[in-house]
Amino acid sequence: MRYKLLVQKAVATQKNSYAPYSKLKVGAALLTTTGKIFTGCNIENSSYSLTICAERTAIFKAISEGHKKFKAIAVTSDKLDFIPPCGACRQVLMDLAGDIDVVLVDKKGNQKITKLSFLLPDSFNKSIFKP
Ligand code: THU
Repeated sequence: MRYKLLVQKAVATQKNSYAPYSKLKVGAALLTTTGKIFTGCNIENSSYSLTICAERTAIFKAISEGHKKFKAIAVTSDKLDFIPPCGACRQVLMDLAGDIDVVLVDKKGNQKITKLSFLLPDSFNKSIFKP
């Protein structure tokens, strides 16, 4: 399995998920180009739209700690299926991390690796603001 440690960290973080409404526990682990790993889980809210996904928790933690260059993100859940990042997370990841590897892992440990540009082709991104 590729990205074994990254996947292990995502699975471990999934246990911290706060998902009393959807009951879907999601874990993410984001790898920097320097080899550091930032983890995140989904955190729901009784006012549903205030929920944050695991992927955005992870990247906001990394950015807030001063990290800017990323290589891959692993996403895991306690469901059998792969959980591909939602549209909002794809946009945030593309802006802040660029075209990283996205490592999807289902409950059984099956793995699918794709690129963010495959999940979000022709993206609106920050290049439009360059002079
Ligand atoms: N969720 C994530 O954490 N990541 C995704 O990419 C998809 C959805 C969470 C948000 C919410 O807590 C639950 O899954 C159901 O939508």
